[in-house]
Amino acid sequence: MTEQAARPPFLYVVVCAAGIAADVGQLIAAAQERGWDVGVIATPVAMNGFFDTAAVEARTGRPIRSAWRTPKEPRPFPAPDAVVVAPATFNTVNKWAAGIADTLALGTLCEVAGLGVPIAVLPCVADALAAHPAYRDSLERLRGMGVRFGDPYAGEPDEAGGRREFAWDRALDLVERG
Ligand SMILES: Cc1cc2nc3c(=O)[nH]c(=O)nc-3n(C[C@H](O)[C@H](O)[C@H](O)COP(=O)(O)O)c2cc1C
Repeated sequence: MTEQAARPPFLYVVVCAAGIAADVGQLIAAAQERGWDVGVIATPVAMNGFFDTAAVEARTGRPIRSAWRTPKEPRPFPAPDAVVVAPATFNTVNKWAAGIADTLALGTLCEVAGLGVPIAVLPCVADALAAHPAYRDSLERLRGMGVRFGDPYAGEPDEAGGRREFAWDRALDLVERG
């Protein structure tokens, strides 16, 4: 009897429409180096010029998912072993916490929260938006569901015109922590 080769663990990377999404290739490369097979799910707005979709598809070897499949189409990705949302926008965090599932990304997030797989979120939200009480409530609600968050990141330039590095690797540390 031949033994079946173990498949690598499958990571969903959910990409939202924040400027820092242009660098999401760094996260995918880091995940692959750590042994993850990666499938990307992007919000429809993120697909509209926020990152290099062709480069991401070439790197993952899979089409990016953004729209719902038709009922007769098979599920294009295996079930996830872990999920990373990076970057996560104000919009997606609030809608996810409220249980809104009007994009594939949101529908997937709402569903995986009930699967018991590790989920890590790296928000990229300006301080002024992060001060909104709905956002604070959303973080509390998602944390209560077991979702793991990286440090706040405003994405705004510092006094020297530079930007603090976005901690892509942190998302992987969070889902790998067991
Ligand atoms: C150039 C640009 C950069 C943006 N960056 C951010 C960001 O860092 N964080 C954020 O929450 N929204 C940002 N937005 C606004 C979001 O794109 C907008 O709220 C959108 O509805 C989010 O959709 P999504 O959550 O479905 O991806 C940005 C918009 C533009 C045009």
